[in-house]
Amino acid sequence: MNVLVLQDYAELSKKGAMIIAEQVNNKKDSILGLATGSTPLGVYKELAQMYEQGKIDFSKVITFNLDEYYGLPENHPQSYRYYMEENFWSKVNLQDENKHIPPSITDNIELACKEYDELIESHGGIDLQILGIGPNGHIGFNEPGKELYAKTHLAKLTQNTIEANSRFFPDKESVPKNAITMGMGSIMKSKKILLLANGNGKAEIIRKTIKGQITTNVPASMLQLHPNVTVLLDEKAASKL
Ligand code: GLP
Repeated sequence: MNVLVLQDYAELSKKGAMIIAEQVNNKKDSILGLATGSTPLGVYKELAQMYEQGKIDFSKVITFNLDEYYGLPENHPQSYRYYMEENFWSKVNLQDENKHIPPSITDNIELACKEYDELIESHGGIDLQILGIGPNGHIGFNEPGKELYAKTHLAKLTQNTIEANSRFFPDKESVPKNAITMGMGSIMKSKKILLLANGNGKAEIIRKTIKGQITTNVPASMLQLHPNVTVLLDEKAASKL
């Protein structure tokens, strides 16, 4: 793992955007895996600015989001589709047909998951996957537990995640209990991975992810097995390394 420690969140966001811009500038039709959460917001802002300044062109880029809450209406302000539209998609020249995110409601979950994986595969897999990390070590919504899943699937959120994500909802009860998430396989098959973390609250899980044993109890620790991972941290998130 290539670990880079940046001074603060602003620097981390700039560096993250630079890495993504380099990918897109080298391969105009890059397949990007996108993440939500508060961590990548700065990166999306930087990328939108670069687009405004004519430094990056998303017209041929294809994106696949990691996950989506299950059961929320599509236009719900806490759905990840809404987040993506609000914070990134509407700010750059991505083509509508090139923006992909798992469905928030579907008649046939199994089929929708299978089709999502097939679509990623049909484009040749993800070139660069952006990841945040949950305080419990989840990536996407691959939660800690006895086993991990390779493929896109309906995941049950842990109590820890429901509590962590309740800050965006009126109360804990309003947080969806399930989500459709890419599995560990789609993430691990990405050619490159960019993991972002900032703040003291992520220091311990970052230590376990980078220096700890590889265990399903810390899904992000699996990234130690990937040949091309860059971890961008601010000084706070790196403080326990
Ligand atoms: C959510 C998402 C993850 C994200 C994590 C961390 O649960 N499913 O993809 O990485 O939260 O969020 P934050 O960046 O807000 O700490």
